[in-house]
Amino acid sequence: LEPEAPFRTSFHFQPPKNWMNDPNGPMYYKGFYHLFYQYNPWGAVWGNLTWGHAVSEDLLHWLDLEPALKGDQWYDVGGVWSGSVTFRLDGTPIILYTGLAEDLEQTQNMAVPDDASDPFLRKWVKSSENPLLRHPDGVYKEDFRDPSTAWQVEDGSWRITIGTQVETDGMALVYKSRDLLHWELEKNVLYTIPGSGMWECLDFYPVAPTGRRGLDTSTRGPSVNHVLKVSSYNDQHDYYAVGSYNEVTQAFTPVNQELGVLYGLQYDYGKFYASKSFYDPVKKRRILWGWSNESDTEAQDIAKGWASLQAIPRTVWLDSELGDNLIQAPIEELKSLRGVKVSKAEVELEAGSILRIEGSYGGQLDIEVTFEYPDVSKVAFKYGRPLDDPFDCSEGGSAQRGVFGPFGLLVMADDALQEQTALFFYISQSKDRQWSTYFCSDQSRLDQLFVGLLCYI
Ligand code: FRU
Repeated sequence: LEPEAPFRTSFHFQPPKNWMNDPNGPMYYKGFYHLFYQYNPWGAVWGNLTWGHAVSEDLLHWLDLEPALKGDQWYDVGGVWSGSVTFRLDGTPIILYTGLAEDLEQTQNMAVPDDASDPFLRKWVKSSENPLLRHPDGVYKEDFRDPSTAWQVEDGSWRITIGTQVETDGMALVYKSRDLLHWELEKNVLYTIPGSGMWECLDFYPVAPTGRRGLDTSTRGPSVNHVLKVSSYNDQHDYYAVGSYNEVTQAFTPVNQELGVLYGLQYDYGKFYASKSFYDPVKKRRILWGWSNESDTEAQDIAKGWASLQAIPRTVWLDSELGDNLIQAPIEELKSLRGVKVSKAEVELEAGSILRIEGSYGGQLDIEVTFEYPDVSKVAFKYGRPLDDPFDCSEGGSAQRGVFGPFGLLVMADDALQEQTALFFYISQSKDRQWSTYFCSDQSRLDQLFVGLLCYI
């Protein structure tokens, strides 16, 4: 860690300085992974957005390049907002992105590589036909953004989905095209949830029925299900559902109706938003990027000179046992960053015990831990929280005792445990007598100035 920049991470993607938000158009091209990202080249606060651009051979070590797209046309002077990359059939990537005009109108636009033989794809040219899409009737001009990667249906035509809200009903519009340039609105939407507000950064992709293999975005077939992900502007979380996609009606139907897209599953319960996945043809996996905006105030960001990071990319695949949810794991490349290994096995945790992991001092730690807990069906509820009391991570933090928990890690701790951040589990039984596992973090005893990292179980 550089002493002058103690909170910059070593593992996560961050541009050298200034503001970053959503990951945009991640892809693999001619030997390099590309990551574009919402970037303000002029400061550490949101605004004046461009497409920042970085390339990497391993998704961990990045070379930051010049922004790929800047707002220089009437339709994007207000900002080059989020979007996606699609590969044409000849293998050339194209960018579809949202432009923000001076009057705040949002339109969808295209850019193509100036020189497709350059593996870095440093220069992009905006289409002379931009804007390709303007908001349809009944949609407010400021509620029409973030085109998805296009997928191909049986007859060879393309589809994209774009998030909007009509009144307060969030929905996924579908557009159709033969040439990726001229788009026509489908009359049916992919999905809608009344009252859910604006939907941002839609992601829509197929998943294989079994195994960890990822599928290219246009993969079709009777055993293929799809994932629809919505970034909810109202509560700033990424929700998803696994479901079936009907190419003819454009309808997406969640496998588990109770897990509709919103109020259903979240990718992550921490700070993880505006995520975007892509198919990695090298390792045949689907990789998910997500933006983590930290908890700093604007004044702190300005003082630091930078703001936010991208979460470690994850491989995602269908949980074939349940069929309605995904399993996620950090990309395997992460292991290559590990240095000194400190391990401890077979530790029995008594109630209230704290065990220091000796030798685990360092600027950044990568921790793998497996907990085994007793058979919950044999628990007598004579102590701890009442049976029917649902657990709330944000209430009382890690200090409250329950039947099974909290147990977990204390990191960023000092010797006296005055300062600590608890990452903990809590297992509780809900009213319907189902067991649930909560994974929480408690930052109430985190000292912003303290940069040591001791680890305890
Ligand atoms: C999501 C978002 C997108 C938009 C971009 C602008 O965080 O609001 O909907 O395109 O950020 O930076």
